Amino acid sequence: MSRRKIIIDTDPGQDDAVAILLALASPDALDVLGITAVAGNVPLALTAKNARVICELAGKVDVPVFAGCDAPLSRKLVTAEHVHGKTGLDGADLPDPAMPLQDAHAVDFLVDTLRAAPSGSVTLCALGPLTNIAAALTRAPDIAGRVPEIVLMGGAYFEVGNITPAAEFNIYVDPEAADIVMKSGIKLTIMPLDVSHKALTTRPRIEAFRALGTRIGETVAGWTDFFERFDMEKYGHDGAPLHDPTVIAYLLEPDLFTGRHINVEIETGSDLTRGMTVADWWRVTDRPANATFMGGVDADRFFRLLTDRLARL
Ligand code: RIB
Ligand code: CA
Repeated sequence: MSRRKIIIDTDPGQDDAVAILLALASPDALDVLGITAVAGNVPLALTAKNARVICELAGKVDVPVFAGCDAPLSRKLVTAEHVHGKTGLDGADLPDPAMPLQDAHAVDFLVDTLRAAPSGSVTLCALGPLTNIAAALTRAPDIAGRVPEIVLMGGAYFEVGNITPAAEFNIYVDPEAADIVMKSGIKLTIMPLDVSHKALTTRPRIEAFRALGTRIGETVAGWTDFFERFDMEKYGHDGAPLHDPTVIAYLLEPDLFTGRHINVEIETGSDLTRGMTVADWWRVTDRPANATFMGGVDADRFFRLLTDRLARL
C-alpha cells in the first residue's frame, strides 16, 4: 500500500488523541505531514498543547504541530469541558510537552503545504470544528482543487444532536465553516454520530487497551474511562462513542464502514437548529449529492484494528 499523505486538523479531546495515536501508529499507510490545532473541545492554547502531548506520548516529536483559529469564523467559541474535562485530556496524567509549537499559523501551513505538494496528494482529516479548513479555503480558493478528499467527523442524521437536540458538536461550534466545506466541491467523507454511536468503548474494549501492558495502552484506557462517563449517563449506553478514530480507521480499512453518497447541507440561519446537518439520506430532494455520509461500522473489527495498531507504539 502506498503511504497516504495527511494533515490532521484537531481539537484534542481524548477521542482526537486516540485518532492521532492510530495515525502515528500506522506509518506503513499514513504519512502525517502535520497536525493543525483548532479551538473546540477546549480553547486553542490547550488543543495546541495537547496535540504535542500526544505526539510525545507516541514518541513522534518530529511531527510539526501548528496552532490555528482560536474562535469560530463568526461566532463565540463553545467548548466541551463537561465531556473532556478542564485539560481536554483528563483521565491520564501526562507531562507538559517539550517539543515546540511551530511558528507558522495552521491556516498558513494548510495553504502552503497544499500549494507546494502535488495536486491531489494531501488528504485532510478533520476531527474538530472546521474553522481552520474553512479559513484556508476562503483565503486560498485555489487549494480546493488540490485536496483529493476531506474525511471528517461531524454531523448526524438518525442520531440527531449531542450538544443540542439538533446538532453535533463539531458542526455546531462553527456552522459557517462547515457550510463552506460542504459547498467546497471537494470529495467529502463524513463520519457522523450515526457511526460513532455504534463504536462504543465497552468495558471489554477498554480492558483490551489496558491489557496491552504499555504506557500507550494504559493512557488510552484512562482516557476512554474518563471520556465515557458523560455519554453513559446521557444515553445509557454501555460505553462512550469513540468518534474521531473512525476518520483514521476509514483511511486504513474503508470497508469497515457503510454509507450513502447524498446531499448534506448545514443549518446556519436558525438558532433552534444551528449546526444541524440536513442529510438527504432518503434522497427526497433533488439537491446534488456532495458527500459520502456513513451510517454503519463493523465495531468489533474497528476496535481490533485500533488495539492492534496501538500495540505497535
Ligand atoms: O461530537 C463529537 C466530536 O466533538 C468529536 O470530534 C469530539 O472530539 C468533539 O470534538
Ligand atoms: Ca474532536
